Amino acid sequence: MKRFRRLRQNEIIRDLVKETRLSVKDFIYPIFVIDGENIKAPVDSMPNVYQYSIDRLDEILEQVKASNISGVMVFGIPKVEDKDEYGSQAYAQNGITQRAVRYIKTNYPEILCITDVCLCEYTSHGHCGVVKDGEILNDETLPLLCDMAVSLAKAGADMIAPSDMMDGRIMAIRNALDNAGFKNIPIMAYSAKFASAYYGPFRDAAHSSPCFGDRKSYQMDFSNPKEALNEIATDIEEGADIVMVKPALAYLDILKEASQNFNIPIAVYNVSGEYSMVKAASMQGWVDEKKIVTENLIAMKRAGANIIITYHALDMAKWMNE
Ligand code: PBG
Ligand code: ZN
Repeated sequence: MKRFRRLRQNEIIRDLVKETRLSVKDFIYPIFVIDGENIKAPVDSMPNVYQYSIDRLDEILEQVKASNISGVMVFGIPKVEDKDEYGSQAYAQNGITQRAVRYIKTNYPEILCITDVCLCEYTSHGHCGVVKDGEILNDETLPLLCDMAVSLAKAGADMIAPSDMMDGRIMAIRNALDNAGFKNIPIMAYSAKFASAYYGPFRDAAHSSPCFGDRKSYQMDFSNPKEALNEIATDIEEGADIVMVKPALAYLDILKEASQNFNIPIAVYNVSGEYSMVKAASMQGWVDEKKIVTENLIAMKRAGANIIITYHALDMAKWMNE
């Protein structure tokens, strides 16, 4: 008889032979920064997640700092009246995201500041690119994404994370960053980003729902694992330093294949809907939140994630530091 239970008999031995461990350094925490003053607005569909105005950001940044996690992913939310067809606030030097990044890097230089690059929070129609006659135009969107990436690098962003899913964007943004003197700013590409219902709560948080249609003409079909690997390979060829799989839990197969096939760091985005489902069940007392979150995050790490972007980051760090 093979006695597997020898190494399961007590916690010390179990800890010794553990194959997968989490570190607070694995985590990136997404934050929502809204234009305006003295705002801390709860996101209804994401318990314990808030939109903060810059003058209230310290509250969350102090927690991030104390948790020792690696950094934040910044999502800016402009005023409704500042949105337009071309998302011009996305690349305005004094846009909400640029101001937020300047604030963070001036006051919290130790927090890694990654910025999402996409137009949907800034366009009046809520799509991730330029729209003409109901079509989301690819090539016309690229220069705007480049402008956005460069303006965020100028504001002090440590890393650029394009999430728009236009073709050719990684190469375009890499060239734009290089030409603007930002050769050393890494690109974390949302490469295998699926058109997913799990983004629902985020769109409440970031005011970024498309006002017509859906994102299926640019985000990936979740039935297609081969296409996901092709997207990842293409983004790497185009110059991505880190590639991402998003969402996480229903996509662990993609994550695992990505980590086995590519020799660069792999990030995973444990998205809003995944967070909200766990929160909702925990609040009902139906599952044990700490245990469920630990199990989920270990699963992502086990599947090969090097970096985990998650709304659970601060809670998890607190539990790990306990
Ligand atoms: C912007 C963007 C989205 C998310 C990250 N960047 C929304 C979308 O593509 O509609 C989703 C993150 C989440 O659900 O937590 N394009
Ligand atoms: Zn978008």
